[in-house]
Amino acid sequence: MLLVLNGPNLNRLGLREPGVYGSHTLEDLERQCEAWGAELGESVTCRQSNYEGQLVEWVQDAQEHGFTGIVINPGALTHYSYALRDAIAGQSVPVVEVHISNVDAREEFRHKSVTAAVCRGKISGLGFLGYRLGMEALVEDRA
Ligand code: DQA
Repeated sequence: MLLVLNGPNLNRLGLREPGVYGSHTLEDLERQCEAWGAELGESVTCRQSNYEGQLVEWVQDAQEHGFTGIVINPGALTHYSYALRDAIAGQSVPVVEVHISNVDAREEFRHKSVTAAVCRGKISGLGFLGYRLGMEALVEDRA
């Protein structure tokens, strides 16, 4: 059972900077993740919030709610949220960090992730495919 979390502004996919993030919506991404989950034999729950505290609580509660892995795109929180970092570090469900765009090819402030070091791994720049690869890694890791 996998949890896919998207952070601030990812509800605006499709409308927001389509040259960077593409023309597909969050709804498209979430349906795609569910379909990929089915291929991997995993049920997938997708959630999005613009609020740091909400993401922190979803991460904190993941194990208790039966999730065995988390794919998270923390949006801009990646670059400065020590609260989200501590939430990831403070629980035992493996987490893969995903970015749709290639953050290392963008503005300097996006090169730093405060969350990646406490994640199992990080995927950046591969569009929605990164979510699938993250899910695959979590399933393979467990095998
Ligand atoms: C993002 C990259 C972040 O720098 C940005 O703030 C986002 C989206 C990505 O998916 O490429 O909101 O995480």
